[in-house]
Amino acid sequence: MKTVQDMLNKNMRLPVICAPMFLVSSPNLVINACKNGVVGSFPAFNTRTQAALDEWLTTITAALDEEKQANPAAKVAPYAVNLVVHASNKRLHADFEIVKKHKVPFVITSQGNPKPVIDAVHQWGGIVFHDVITVAHARKAIEAGADGLILVAAGAGGHAGEVNPFALLREVREFWQGPLVLAGAINDGYGIRAAEILGANYSYMGTRFIATNEAEVDPDYKTMLVNANVNDLVFTDTFTGVKCHFLKPSITRAGVDLASIEGKENVDLDLGGSNAWKYMWSAGHGVSGIRSVISVHSLIEQLEGEYNKAATTPLFNHTAEHQTAHAGS
Ligand SMILES: Cc1cc2nc3c(=O)[nH]c(=O)nc-3n(C[C@H](O)[C@H](O)[C@H](O)COP(=O)(O)O)c2cc1C
Repeated sequence: MKTVQDMLNKNMRLPVICAPMFLVSSPNLVINACKNGVVGSFPAFNTRTQAALDEWLTTITAALDEEKQANPAAKVAPYAVNLVVHASNKRLHADFEIVKKHKVPFVITSQGNPKPVIDAVHQWGGIVFHDVITVAHARKAIEAGADGLILVAAGAGGHAGEVNPFALLREVREFWQGPLVLAGAINDGYGIRAAEILGANYSYMGTRFIATNEAEVDPDYKTMLVNANVNDLVFTDTFTGVKCHFLKPSITRAGVDLASIEGKENVDLDLGGSNAWKYMWSAGHGVSGIRSVISVHSLIEQLEGEYNKAATTPLFNHTAEHQTAHAGS
């Protein structure tokens, strides 16, 4: 019997998913990730209407079909759509109708109970991975029938978990043998290899893909990522109601006094809900490993080279070479 991994791996060059990112992931980023052999994904929320979602899916599938026809031997990875399945998502039903129309091959669910979506996606042969930040969430997702789990560990960009990745993976692997994806500060091929050694099948990479030519974000956001270190992040629920890492310079740039939020709980700033994402830029702990803005193609070549080297020699022995590669050109 074909497994979910067989289905994914035969079209993947590296065990990587370019993670869905609110206001960051675009068809261009998704298409380039998939064409270069890693899964590209986007949150359905990045489109304002169902008509726009329909259009994005049409664009993505056409570009990938064209690539497959032009280069039959190339590994063109499947794309994924991220759906928030929490009851508060009033768009879910309408968005799902579009996802169903396109028979989206890979759905990533987050928050809430994914069961109804899983059952429906299975009807057209698609697969569903569910985002989790705790062991309890992992157990619930398995009960709901998820094909795979995405462990969003401490240090991830966006709404990060707070459990150490070693601990989270270890504990979940005790009761789940299926596909596991690890998220949180994975920025290079050494990290991808390390995640596999820990027991993950795939790495989920968000922040690193923001610093690519294809990410359609404010250029200052990319420059901030290149210049930032872990100390330049603040983990706060002030802007979105859920703990999330943000770049301190983006907060200051937006005119918010950092001292009013750092180290404080329940700060009430009226920033207009999700509009906060437009001005407060998120990044994970992996920022310290980002020193250049490059194309998705170059990034994936770099990741592949590091991943292959890491099979035999640890990063420490490659440090000088690694630093040169990451200094950019
Ligand atoms: C700017 C930004 C926006 C994000 N938006 C979403 C989102 O809409 N849905 C989601 O499931 N995860 C979202 N995430 C989390 C990513 O999908 C992923 O879990 C995370 O980026 C992995 O950690 P890393 O950034 O350290 O690689 C976001 C992350 C970032 C950095």
